[in-house]
Amino acid sequence: MKIGIIGTGVIGKTLARKLAVSGNQVRVANSRGPESLVDFASENGLNAVTCADAVKDVEVIILTIPLGQLPKIKEIFVGVPEDVIVVETMNYYPYRDGAIEEIENGMVNSVWVQNQIGRPVIKAFNSIGAYSLFAEGTPKGTPNRIALPVAGDNQIAKEKVIELVNQTGFDGFDAGSISESWKQQPGTPVYCTDLTMNEAKQALGKAIKEDAPAARDFFLKKLSDVDEAYMNIILTGNYPDGFVDKGVDMNREYFGFPQRNIK
Ligand SMILES: NC(=O)c1ccc[n+]([C@@H]2O[C@H](COP(=O)([O-])OP(=O)(O)OC[C@H]3O[C@@H](n4cnc5c(N)ncnc54)[C@H](OP(=O)(O)O)[C@@H]3O)[C@@H](O)[C@H]2O)c1
Repeated sequence: MKIGIIGTGVIGKTLARKLAVSGNQVRVANSRGPESLVDFASENGLNAVTCADAVKDVEVIILTIPLGQLPKIKEIFVGVPEDVIVVETMNYYPYRDGAIEEIENGMVNSVWVQNQIGRPVIKAFNSIGAYSLFAEGTPKGTPNRIALPVAGDNQIAKEKVIELVNQTGFDGFDAGSISESWKQQPGTPVYCTDLTMNEAKQALGKAIKEDAPAARDFFLKKLSDVDEAYMNIILTGNYPDGFVDKGVDMNREYFGFPQRNIK
């Protein structure tokens, strides 16, 4: 497929690499422009483009920037054909994104995204931490493969995105409509807990909307208290050998999932 990825941070870079290795034609764009992506693009067989060009002549657009930045680029979606699938990975963190009134008042993140860009989206890849996305993928059929929820209102689009999730090493599954996508947002049991398909489906059913923002902020504080070096690794994606994402273990403990068998 022809895929345009906007955002080349820890999530965008990993998605770009994996989707290119799977045979997709991938374009990448960021806030600093294509010149800043020349080396990354040439090393990984990608095209570095502007954000405006990332949405042209593609079948899928993946939006993976800080949520609060979206209003700055929303105009690029004007004129994008209706059949182009827009996937968004973005989570709401008020400390980073600034307070967004509608979301604070209960609007689902992805509904806010849809309103911003004036078209439907599929929510995917938001519920896995950057290190697990980078390191924990496995071939289809591997026992206990990590599963990722995919939410959206267009069934055909959702199935295509589930296949893209599969290509990145995870079992994508239908997690319902976009209005239900709050069940996979930060502070819910499926978020950054690296669950199998059965566990993940059950976890969605246990999500409590009203509790999620407080749980999100609790984890963020706990993680930033772990140590500065850990946070630096998580934010930069420079993972040392033997790195273990303690955040996943903290989340699992909090939501009552068993400890992981780290390879
Ligand atoms: N980190 C995680 O574990 C994780 C997990 C799941 C979902 N997410 C969500 O996925 C999204 C991306 O996360 P991330 O951790 O990859 O972020 P990140 O490492 O901070 O990277 C953000 C990327 O967005 C680009 N960007 C920022 N503002 C932009 C703008 N106005 N126009 C174009 N590009 C812009 C940045 O461009 P430059 O490179 O030029 O600065 C950068 O490439 C976020 O919404 C996050 O909440 C993150």
